[in-house]
Amino acid sequence: FEEGAFTGKHIVITAGPTQEAIDPVRYISNHSSGKMGYALAQAAANQGARVTLISGPTNLPCPERVERIQVKSAEQMLEASLQQIGEMDIFIASAAVADYRPSEIAEHKIKKVDGEEQMIIKLVKNPDIVATIAQHPERPFTVGFAAETQEVAQYAQAKLARKKLDMIVANDVSNTNIGFNSDNNAATIFWAQGSHDLDFMSKSNMANEILACIKAQLS
Ligand code: PMT
Repeated sequence: FEEGAFTGKHIVITAGPTQEAIDPVRYISNHSSGKMGYALAQAAANQGARVTLISGPTNLPCPERVERIQVKSAEQMLEASLQQIGEMDIFIASAAVADYRPSEIAEHKIKKVDGEEQMIIKLVKNPDIVATIAQHPERPFTVGFAAETQEVAQYAQAKLARKKLDMIVANDVSNTNIGFNSDNNAATIFWAQGSHDLDFMSKSNMANEILACIKAQLS
């Protein structure tokens, strides 16, 4: 076990997509691979942290020296995150959580109906996991991500304030060379008093840069 910048700290990281069931065989989800969150988990463990990785469905192996809790839906991810309240120093929300889920999960496979060319699925809002953690009385240092396709800085700073986060990592997900599913990323980190640009780099290098920025904010 290495001594590192985060020795003695417990870091909880959400990663990957959520899956919101429609019926027993179908779901709504997104293109998150989990790579960014898993890179953060590995980097934090390498720097001595105790790491809990709360992961939506991905194909990635669990990083070394990391405890992984596997979930599917946003509601399960929230429950797993709340279980860590009071026991974590830092919470990093890199998961791409579905903002909405089907209002009901059909008990049986929904059948195709002859003559009906449209079907409507009613959605309801999911709880906001990172905002719930950030606004909890026993909140840890809370870091969010912002996945945007336009006005990246403006939307990210609005999320930083609205969700009451300590830091937010803003990435442009309209660029397929970075963001979702790629091995690289580029981002800007915002906090109340400043910002820091992270130019195009591997997600594992970015994970180390993000952790360095967190460390600087904490001390
Ligand atoms: O997984 P990869 O393929 O490596 O891709 C990485 C990534 C693009 C998914 C990652 O870098 C990223 O941007 N993650 C955040 C994705 C996202 O859902 O962003 P958002 O702007 O919609 O949400 C803002 C923040 O609120 C995020 O920290 C998100 O985890 C959190 N959130 C959102 C909705 C919700 N119901 N609960 C949340 O906690």
